[in-house]
Amino acid sequence: MHVMSYHFLEPVIGYHEIDADGHLVRTELLDTAKPVMVHDMAMTATRIIAMDLPVVFDMDLAAAGRAMPFRWDDDYVPRIGVMPRSGTAADTVWIEVEPCYVFHPLNAYDDGDTVVLDVARHRTMFRNDLDDDSDGRPQLMRWRLNTATGTSSSELIDDRAQEFPRIDERLTGLHHRYGYAAGVGIAQMGGGSEVSTAVYKHDLHTGESTVHELGQGRSTGEFVFVAASPDAGEDEGWLMGFVYDAATDRSELVILDATDVAGDPVAVVEMPVRIPAGFHGNWVAS
Ligand SMILES: [Fe+2]
Repeated sequence: MHVMSYHFLEPVIGYHEIDADGHLVRTELLDTAKPVMVHDMAMTATRIIAMDLPVVFDMDLAAAGRAMPFRWDDDYVPRIGVMPRSGTAADTVWIEVEPCYVFHPLNAYDDGDTVVLDVARHRTMFRNDLDDDSDGRPQLMRWRLNTATGTSSSELIDDRAQEFPRIDERLTGLHHRYGYAAGVGIAQMGGGSEVSTAVYKHDLHTGESTVHELGQGRSTGEFVFVAASPDAGEDEGWLMGFVYDAATDRSELVILDATDVAGDPVAVVEMPVRIPAGFHGNWVAS
């Protein structure tokens, strides 16, 4: 397992490897300018990617009892750290990017000297209160990080509000063609009554997106891709996730054919109760 950690007082992002027996076998400490909040990481076949972005621990907020004592910092220089998997923290190349915050990468892969990193990008995070809508809505974005020149470029993949991006995880760190994401409504960002209404599938080769509309009042968390078989092709399988229907106050497990996202669900398992929103989803075959 590849793991990242951070500390609320130490300005550092930790990278760790855990072996198949569950033993911590390696730690690299990547220095940051301030103690930043780190939610997730990415990796490629040859590189580890750390996101050093402007959400910084704030002692005053902690003393005031805020549950998430982190604050957007306009003066913080946002960077992505790219460390060779064969190297150490000292070999990390830091590449500046435009100010934003990322909880969840979709995936990353090598393209020569460049790392392609797809993420759900928030323009800011925790700029004001935790639960207002001033940070805007997350959008799917592609970074190209040139490790030879230390420069980056970015490209908006889809401007519709979405989060919890997932790929066919057999391709983690490798070139992916497809990405899936859950629509995010303003209610989940803290205000209003609009809710998520869709599951998105993105073809990153053609630039086309397919949408599964969930309908008014129906919201979802993460949809996870499940391959049809171990040797199935990319995208050959199902997407599944919980959908909450406010009208009935109950949830459904909705299973879509990943190759036909816009079509009717392959199956809907009606739950007798509401399944509380859990952000993430995973599937474990029995
Ligand atoms: Fe998360």
